[in-house]
Amino acid sequence: MRVLGIETSCDECAAAVVEDGKKILSNVVATQIPFHAAYNGVVPEIASRKHTEWIVRVVQEALDKAQLTVCDVDAVAATAHPGLLGSLLVGLSFAKAFAWARDIPFIAIDHMLAHLYAPRLENENIEYPFLGLLVSGGHSIICRADNFDDITVLGTTIDDAVGEAFDKVSKHYGFGYPGGAVIDKLAKSGDSGAFNFPLPNLYKGDHRYDFSYSGLKTAVINQLDKFRAGPLKAGGDSPADIAAAFQKTAVEILLRSLFNAVEDTDLKRVIAGGGVAANSYLRAALYERRDINCVFPPLDLCGDNGAMVAGLGYQYLARGERSSLRAQASARVASFKRRYP
Ligand code: KG4
Ligand code: ZN
Repeated sequence: MRVLGIETSCDECAAAVVEDGKKILSNVVATQIPFHAAYNGVVPEIASRKHTEWIVRVVQEALDKAQLTVCDVDAVAATAHPGLLGSLLVGLSFAKAFAWARDIPFIAIDHMLAHLYAPRLENENIEYPFLGLLVSGGHSIICRADNFDDITVLGTTIDDAVGEAFDKVSKHYGFGYPGGAVIDKLAKSGDSGAFNFPLPNLYKGDHRYDFSYSGLKTAVINQLDKFRAGPLKAGGDSPADIAAAFQKTAVEILLRSLFNAVEDTDLKRVIAGGGVAANSYLRAALYERRDINCVFPPLDLCGDNGAMVAGLGYQYLARGERSSLRAQASARVASFKRRYP
């Protein structure tokens, strides 16, 4: 079964065709980064307008690359939540119209569940249950997955998402946009021990799997004010050192909660997903843990893409499900159990 997956929850206009939930026939991602870079962040109005301009061409390109026509598509899946409402509406409406016109099934998808599905594309079976580490620009979640749609949130950020912390630090220091990839690159030539940034005072009781980024973010930004106030000293104050020290602490904050969850659940398999799963320091730190079987998506499937949406859509279809064409877009998530968001 060939599923067309459409993803427009934020600033990537993406479409893909995936066969039987695994085989990627095409995966087209049109990024809007140049249009938002001047503002150091995603401007919702610009994002939805660009999606409207681009969606037809992006879907056509996905079909062309898969060497298919609209008649060869068996079902359409699109992200319905969470995300920017104006952006979600474009992909969702397009997908519903496509499904209605072709009289094929339509599936509404949760973006975070799709991120968790990404490592399963082009991969042999990854068995449930496992722990999920979902780290993106809008959400940060540690969860237990018992099936592709049976997710229990164990912990989450109590303030900023980890990707958001990367983006905000980068914005304040003028490193560039989006911040995650820029800081990751810059940090490679920095000394992560040059600064001692604080870890949150969490990890106990109800917060054993939660994390927080506002303290780290404030400490790193305050450091910039200290630089501005006094003459720069040699060593320990290069942008690369700041990037490396921030990144090390940001990853440590995540890993503490994750390792608590591994210890308590005794689940030794961790599946990572979301834009921050591309972070080289995080990947290296998790691969280093020989007692944990950690699976990351390939780099091109960490960020937002249509393949993860199509792949997850197939799983619902294989179970005989389809969504109503009345399915609504929502800025918030709808399909996780318990403490989410
Ligand atoms: O999943 P995603 O593409 O979009 C959302 O659903 O939010 O994640 C985007 C986030 C941004 O905050 C971006 O800075 C971050 O992922 N990111 C990274 C890296 N690449 C992207 N963060 C850390 N290291 C990276 N290499
Ligand atoms: Zn995402």
